Amino acid sequence: MAVFLIKTERFSLLTVYQMAFLLLFVMLTACAASPQDLSGQVFTFPEETNTTYVRLNASVQSFSAVTVCLRFITDLSRSHSLFSLATPSAANAFQIRTDPVSSGFIVFVNNRVVRFWGLNYTPNRWHSICSTWDGDSGLVRLWFDSESTVSKFAGGTGISEPVIILGQDQDSLGGRFQARQSFVGMLSNVHMWDYTLSACEIQNYVDDLNFGLGNVLNWRALEFKATGRVLLEDKMLACH
Ligand SMILES: *[C@@H]1O[C@H](CO)[C@@H](O)[C@H](O)[C@H]1NC(C)=O
Ligand SMILES: *[C@@H]1O[C@H](CO)[C@@H](O)[C@H](O)[C@H]1NC(C)=O
Repeated sequence: MAVFLIKTERFSLLTVYQMAFLLLFVMLTACAASPQDLSGQVFTFPEETNTTYVRLNASVQSFSAVTVCLRFITDLSRSHSLFSLATPSAANAFQIRTDPVSSGFIVFVNNRVVRFWGLNYTPNRWHSICSTWDGDSGLVRLWFDSESTVSKFAGGTGISEPVIILGQDQDSLGGRFQARQSFVGMLSNVHMWDYTLSACEIQNYVDDLNFGLGNVLNWRALEFKATGRVLLEDKMLACH
């Protein structure tokens, strides 16, 4: 009987180790490297700080149009940054910010605020969000899950020398983070293009069908540097 009990204990101990191994999460302190394929993975930002962030390397340095798509999940009920692109001339050169209080989103283009209202935002659920800006017309548009917004005017000066940060809102180029604007949750599938995607291409992204990968940021070949307590986890954990 005693032997049986010990065996059972050893077995459950092993299972715990196996489970821990299966979680396969890697603490990223300061690892910069060649492009990584992050298919099936998510960045988890597990706490509210102003010190944790992921900096992404853009392969294009100057833009007259932008599309950004990403997926996220959070339970934050305050406003928070999903994607922060700053330049030497504008801290909010291209930013997507969630404002759950108003069921809305804010997109900044060259510091100009464009608000989108009345979208069907729910916490604790994976969402996809895409935003396009076209410098010729100056128009911004947002796609949230399967909903799309009207086009709104943001103006048209170009964006160049970007610093792109996930997890924090840049109040100056590459810094001046505030914990109360930080992102707490999971982010995945970040792609960026230097042109506007068509509504059909965006629908393909939302539906997880074949779509042309980002030519500025590509989740399947992402060059990034993570700082602070941010984890690269298997998306299986999120069961989605
Ligand atoms: C990525 O960005 C960092 C910081 O700006 C820079 O030092 C590094 O050279 C960049 N890597 C590439 C391949 O551009
Ligand atoms: C974080 O916040 C502290 C206190 O407000 C500030 O001094 C510090 O510069 C901030 N850190 C960053 C990286 O912005």
